[in-house]
Amino acid sequence: MAITYPLTAIDPSERDRLVAEATEIFFATANTSAFNSPIVKKAFYQRWFGNYLDLQPLSFFIALDNERHAVGYLAGCLDSFSDECRPILDGMAFYTKNFRAALQDFPSHFHINVKPGQQGNGIGSLLVARFFDQCIEAGSPGVHVVTGANSRAIQFYENCGFRRFFPLKEVSPDLGLLVHRFEQR
Ligand SMILES: CC(C)(COP(=O)(O)OP(=O)(O)OC[C@H]1O[C@@H](n2cnc3c(N)ncnc32)[C@H](O)[C@@H]1OP(=O)(O)O)[C@@H](O)C(=O)NCCC(=O)NCCS
Repeated sequence: MAITYPLTAIDPSERDRLVAEATEIFFATANTSAFNSPIVKKAFYQRWFGNYLDLQPLSFFIALDNERHAVGYLAGCLDSFSDECRPILDGMAFYTKNFRAALQDFPSHFHINVKPGQQGNGIGSLLVARFFDQCIEAGSPGVHVVTGANSRAIQFYENCGFRRFFPLKEVSPDLGLLVHRFEQR
């Protein structure tokens, strides 16, 4: 059974190795594997992974197996619309002014990936539950995720309590937007 930790709770002696293993999972599950140049690859990494590590380490969760190897990660952002998180959103073209306005009640968001071969074993659900706890603790009213319109992950998100939310024409037909409102304790 996997256990999950925020990056900040992982002992420094293990942290670099686990981040490297999570990075491997990121590239193994990415929908792009061909990059025109190392610069393009680095920008892709920074946009979807590195910015979260740098700016939201408390909300970057890594799931470990019994041998303490990374089997999944969740790169979370507690308040997407805060000044602190601006570089995260600025890297993503679909966060237009109207799109941001429509998501005011769902300011948290995340990206999640589980290691191929380990998917379907409950690791993703565990990571999401940890992030939800943190969001509720921090007083976030809700969370959104953006994924492929026909992605198999949509069913996963619906199982986690999300509902589909297509409020704006700016969101490409290739993308699916889902939201979940937290019941405050
Ligand atoms: C989506 C993902 C994070 C879910 O984590 P997980 O640990 O596999 O999921 P859990 O075991 O907690 O939940 C199982 C549900 O996830 C979904 N799921 C399982 N394997 C999946 C896969 N390879 N891709 C997408 N969704 C998957 C199914 O809805 C499944 O429910 P079911 O068993 O009733 O069919 C993980 O499967 C994954 O990384 N997939 C590939 C990359 C991806 O789609 N990332 C999300 C991009 S937005």
